[in-house]
Amino acid sequence: MTQQKPALLQLLPFPFPHTQERLAKHFDVIELWNAPDRQAAIEARKDEIVVLVTSAMTPTGADLIDKLPKLRAICSQGVGYDAIDVKHAQKKGIQVSNTPDVLNECVADLALGLLLATARKLGHAERYVRASKWGSDIAFPLATKVSHKKLGIVGLGRIGMAIAKRAAGFDMEVRYHNRRQRDDVELGYEASLKDLASWSDFLVVATVGGASTLKLINKEILQALGPAGILINISRGSVIDEQAMVDMLASGELGGAGLDVYEAEPTVPDALKTLDNVVILPHIASATNETRLDMLNLVLDNVDAYATTGKLITPVPPL
Ligand code: 8YV
Repeated sequence: MTQQKPALLQLLPFPFPHTQERLAKHFDVIELWNAPDRQAAIEARKDEIVVLVTSAMTPTGADLIDKLPKLRAICSQGVGYDAIDVKHAQKKGIQVSNTPDVLNECVADLALGLLLATARKLGHAERYVRASKWGSDIAFPLATKVSHKKLGIVGLGRIGMAIAKRAAGFDMEVRYHNRRQRDDVELGYEASLKDLASWSDFLVVATVGGASTLKLINKEILQALGPAGILINISRGSVIDEQAMVDMLASGELGGAGLDVYEAEPTVPDALKTLDNVVILPHIASATNETRLDMLNLVLDNVDAYATTGKLITPVPPL
C-alpha cells in the first residue's frame, strides 16, 4: 500500500519543466494558480498542508500562515523576504528559507547596467534613434561619464560587495553606509547616510527592504545627492520616499535615477514614464534563465531537505 504524501501548497508556477516533478517526489502538490477558487482550494486542504512554496514577490502574510495549522516550512524563491511574515512564522516554529547568493552576480550586473544606462542616457538615446531623430536638427544631449567617479553603496551585503567589485573595473572610488562598519572590508565607510549621499556621484541602494529601511532614502538624502547625482535602486521601492524622488527628478533637484523596483509594483508612477533622466525597469535584476534556474533549484533543494531531514538548508536567520 502506498502511503499518502503530505500536502504542499505552491502559490505560483515557475517556468522550468522539472519543477512539478521535483516537488511531487515527496509531496502532494496543490497548484494554487490553477484553482478556479483559490480560497476554496486552501480551505479544502488547510489541515494537510505542511510546506508552502512562495516567492519574494508573492505576499505571504500572517493570515495565510494562520490558516494552515500543520504548516512547518515556507520555501521562498528570492533573497528578499519582506513580502513574507517571517517573524510571525518563526514565532510559530515554522522554518522559512530564501535563496541567497545565487543571484548576487545578476543583481550586481544589472545595478551596473542601470548605472551605465542612466548616466550615459542609453534608453533616451535608443528612443532617439527609434524615433528617427538622428540626423535631424535635434542633437542628442551630452551625458555623464561613469569611469573614475564616486560610487556610494547603501547596504554593503553580498550584493553590495558584488557591485563594489564591478565598480573597481570602472576605476570608481567606492564608499558605503551600513548600520555598522564592516571589519572585513577595506572600502571607505560613512557612518552618516547623508554624508555618503553628499560625497557620491552615484548612490546605489542595495539594502534589505521591510520596516527597518522604510523611506530611508528621504528628501534630505536626495538633496544631499543633488542635481548632478544619480540614484540607482535594485533593492526595494519601499527604501525610497518615491513621491519625493519623483518630484525632485521632475524639478531637476535630483540628477537622474535608474530603477528596477517601486513602492507599489507593478504600478510605476506615470511621471517617471515621461522623464528622460530616468531609466525604469520591471523588477528584472535576477531575471536571467541561469539565475532563475539556480534560485528555483535552491527552493527545490530546501523542499527536499525538509522532506528528508526536517531542516531547511538556507533558512532565514531568526528575526
Ligand atoms: C525576484 C527579488 O524578483 O530575490 C528577490 O528578493 O526581488 C527577485 O530576485 C523574485 O524572487 C522573483 O520571484
